[in-house]
Amino acid sequence: MSLLAWYDRNQRELPWRSDWASLKDPYRVWVSEVMLQQTLIPVVIPAYQKFVTKFPDLHALAAAEPADLREAVKGLGYYRRFGHLHQAARILAAQSTPDEGIKWPKSREEWRKLPGIGEYTSAAIGSIAFDWPLPVIDGNVERVLCRLNDIRKPPNLPELKPRYRELAAGMMAPWKDRPGDFNQAVMELGQRVCTPSKPDCNSCPLRAGCLAFQKNSQHLAPAPKLRPEFENVRLALMVPVRRRREGEFEVALVARGQDHKFLKESRGFWYTDGSFTPPAKSENAGSFNHNITRHKIHASVHVIDTKTFPALMAKENPDWIPAGEVEKELIASLDLKAWRLVKRHSLAPTL
Ligand code: ADE
Repeated sequence: MSLLAWYDRNQRELPWRSDWASLKDPYRVWVSEVMLQQTLIPVVIPAYQKFVTKFPDLHALAAAEPADLREAVKGLGYYRRFGHLHQAARILAAQSTPDEGIKWPKSREEWRKLPGIGEYTSAAIGSIAFDWPLPVIDGNVERVLCRLNDIRKPPNLPELKPRYRELAAGMMAPWKDRPGDFNQAVMELGQRVCTPSKPDCNSCPLRAGCLAFQKNSQHLAPAPKLRPEFENVRLALMVPVRRRREGEFEVALVARGQDHKFLKESRGFWYTDGSFTPPAKSENAGSFNHNITRHKIHASVHVIDTKTFPALMAKENPDWIPAGEVEKELIASLDLKAWRLVKRHSLAPTL
């Protein structure tokens, strides 16, 4: 059986696939591929449905308020991707006219000029929505290519990238008229058949040409992934609080820019490295551990009285959020963990 015959028979029903079949809207392919880049399919399915119900097309997303967008993607992690998606949607919506409709980028290079669109996303959208013969290379595809070619190296070795591009292009060549299906077939084969351990070679349509199958080296090709070394980091998070009126408090959230090491372009608590000495009139609400990519963060949380800290407050120009609304405004887990500590802390029973 050929790869695409296998796919035609076995592909999973996924909401973005049926949306593509019925609506042919590149926007929906785009949304699904942005979500799928960092998140597993079972988590993406309900998130995608919620997202496209709220923002059914490019114009709806372009018109969205950042707070509505934040709410729609809460829990998915890696939030910068959605900020980029929003910016890119605004760029395309601003360029489109009512009579001509949306002017979708005309090439991979044009797509890549938009925020958040890289090698993977441009190939996924280009192949699925526009039939461009661009192979996608993600972790699943890398594993399939290593098995087929008996490459016994860590699959994420940077030096293998050009080889993957060449191998994938060769494999796609006979399927150039169905590049989107080809790409999704290889990804799905990697997810369901050519799995990291115990691949189901008996069900594999590519078994006859698979070098690892022939040599029985599926456990050697690929070799274990290179794992980045973890780095320990200490952070101090500041939760500035001021009284709004009797019994009501406000909390300062700051916009974290490009210069931040973690959680760039997001809004949350002000942080600094752990060697920072909190002002005398502050209360330690506790500490917690949290991992972001390859960093093991130990974060201490300090509730500070803004009267003792006017310089910081002036410099950061924060938004003051009523305490009861803070949870809704935060999306990053680091901030949410800090806020939960503050709420438990007896010092601020009213928060
Ligand atoms: N992973 C990322 N995009 C995918 C797609 N379109 N189909 C299957 N798996 C995927």
